[in-house]
Amino acid sequence: MKFELRNITRRFGGHIAVNSVNLTIPQGQMVGVIGRSGAGKSTLLRMINRLADPTSGSLHFSDLEVSALKGAALRNWQRDCAMIFQQFNLVPRLDVMTNVMLGRLNHRPAAMSLLGIFTREERIAAIAALERLGIEQTALQPAGTLSGGQQQRVAIARALMQAPKMLLADEPIASLDPLNARIVMDALKDINEREGITVITNLHTLDTARAYCERIVGMAGGHVVFDGTPDQLDAEAVRMIYGTGSDGSEIDESMTSTSITSGKAAQGFTPSVPAVATARA
Ligand SMILES: Nc1ncnc2c1ncn2[C@@H]1O[C@H](COP(=O)(O)OP(=O)(O)OP(=O)(O)O)[C@@H](O)[C@H]1O
Ligand SMILES: [Mg+2]
Repeated sequence: MKFELRNITRRFGGHIAVNSVNLTIPQGQMVGVIGRSGAGKSTLLRMINRLADPTSGSLHFSDLEVSALKGAALRNWQRDCAMIFQQFNLVPRLDVMTNVMLGRLNHRPAAMSLLGIFTREERIAAIAALERLGIEQTALQPAGTLSGGQQQRVAIARALMQAPKMLLADEPIASLDPLNARIVMDALKDINEREGITVITNLHTLDTARAYCERIVGMAGGHVVFDGTPDQLDAEAVRMIYGTGSDGSEIDESMTSTSITSGKAAQGFTPSVPAVATARA
C-alpha cells in the first residue's frame, strides 16, 4: 500500500499555493513537512484528505483514485485519513469521552449518531484510547477545561477511534510547551510504529522533524525543494527550504523554530522562493 500525489497543483486566484508536487508515501512511513509560513504545507495536507481539492493532478491510495471520490466513498476516505490540528478542534462543552467517541461518527448509522447513542464497545474503545494517551482520568471533564497538551491528546484519541490508515497532523505542537510537545510527538510516533499508520505532519521546527520523522519533505513557494532523510538535510538543504532572511542573512537551523514564523510571517508576509529552489523546480 502507498499514497501518491501525482503532479498536484492548487491555485487560489492567481496565486499558486502548491505547485506540481509529486510524492509517493509507502504505508507506515512517518513524514515531516517543513517550510516557511505560506510555503503550502497546510494546503498540501488538506488536499490529501480532500478538505481542499487540487486544481490539477491526482491523488491515489494504491488502486483507489482518491481525487475522484464522491459521496459516501469520499466520506469513507476522510474517515481513513484522520486529521489533527494546531487548535485541537474539540467540542469544548462536551466531555472528553464524548469528544473521543465522535471519532466513530462516520462508522455508524446516522440515526444513532443523532441520538447520541454510543455502544458499550465504543465506550470501551474510547476509554482504551484515552488510557493509551495517559489521560483516562479526564474522561468526564468538559474538553474545554483541559490543558492544551491534554486537549491535543484527546484529539489524537478521537483520531484513533476512526481506525485510520493515515494520520494527518497540521502543526500539532505549535501551541504547546516543550514538555507537552514531546508527549504529543511521542504519541504520534508510537501510533506510527505500533499500528503501522502513516503519519504526515507539518512542523514548524526542524529539530522536531529531525528527531521524529524518517522522511522530511521541505517546501518553498509551493514546490517540494527537499525530500530525504534527516541525515540528508544538510545546511545547503536547509537554505533551499528556508532561504535567507530579508536582509540577506543566512538562516541557520537554530532559527527555524516557531519564533521565525510568528513574527512577520504570521502577519501575512509571504517569503519569496529561494533562487536555488526555483532553479530546481
Ligand atoms: N483559502 C485560501 N484562499 C486564498 N489563498 C490561500 C488559501 N489558503 C491558502 N492560501 C495561500 O496559499 C499559500 C499557502 O498557504 P498554506 O496555508 O498552505 O501555507 P503553510 O505552509 O501552511 O503556512 P503556515 O506555516 O503559516 O501555516 C499562502 O500564500 C496562502 O495565503
Ligand atoms: Mg499551515
